[in-house]
Amino acid sequence: MKNETYKKLIVANWKMNPSSAKEAEELSGTVQREVRGLKNVEIVLCPPFPYLSVVGALAKGAQSCHWEQKGAYTGAVSPAMLKDMGCEYVIVGHSERKQYFGETDEIINKKVKAALKAGLKVVLCIGEDTRDSFDSKGHWTHELDPKLKEQIIGAFEGVKKSNIQNIVVAYEPVWAIGTGNPATPDDVLSAKIFIRKILSNLYDRKEADKVRVLYGGSTNKKNSAVFIKEGQADGLLVGGASLDSDEFVEMVKSIYENS
Ligand code: PGA
Repeated sequence: MKNETYKKLIVANWKMNPSSAKEAEELSGTVQREVRGLKNVEIVLCPPFPYLSVVGALAKGAQSCHWEQKGAYTGAVSPAMLKDMGCEYVIVGHSERKQYFGETDEIINKKVKAALKAGLKVVLCIGEDTRDSFDSKGHWTHELDPKLKEQIIGAFEGVKKSNIQNIVVAYEPVWAIGTGNPATPDDVLSAKIFIRKILSNLYDRKEADKVRVLYGGSTNKKNSAVFIKEGQADGLLVGGASLDSDEFVEMVKSIYENS
């Protein structure tokens, strides 16, 4: 299962934070200073759109995009604009976009294709809503597997085999996001195997193995290394903890030391 081709990927999702450009600059500046020299990890900062320019030397990502490249879509930001702003990645399908902005699997698929077309890499979020898919011993059951499968199949619809390595799948169980109740490393490993299996059925094993699988949901400096070591995640998508520069830097260092 180990994917040696890539460095571990750590994506910071700042969500709608912090509340001033000055704080954004400080946060980004501290992270950049502290992680300099850690060559073995790839770090992507995803601030809100107005703060994209504060991300200097690290890779830049956006938290969402529209599915058209330009036009009469008031308030929207296109993948082409993000690319032009120097973004390398865009997060698509985050559960908060589904919950508060009505994003459906169909919209997610359109965004995935538009982002790839503009030359962006996609961090595609998938995850089940409740923990009911795990039995009393914490073992993965098949109840909600169809839901994850649907999300993957929906998002990859029409994506060519040659492009799938530009999609990183973030396994983010909704019940683990912002709850302080993370998944177990076993859950993460099962999800990674499951995701790769669906992708090998859709494409082939060789290509599927190139798709990185991240874990996201209540990660912090104490638990991050275990998802990499035991859960075999190819990296993390970090929400709340990425807003605290000390905490985030500790997370990056622990992943660096354990990969
Ligand atoms: P969290 O969020 O780390 O605060 O749980 C993760 C996410 O929403 O991507």
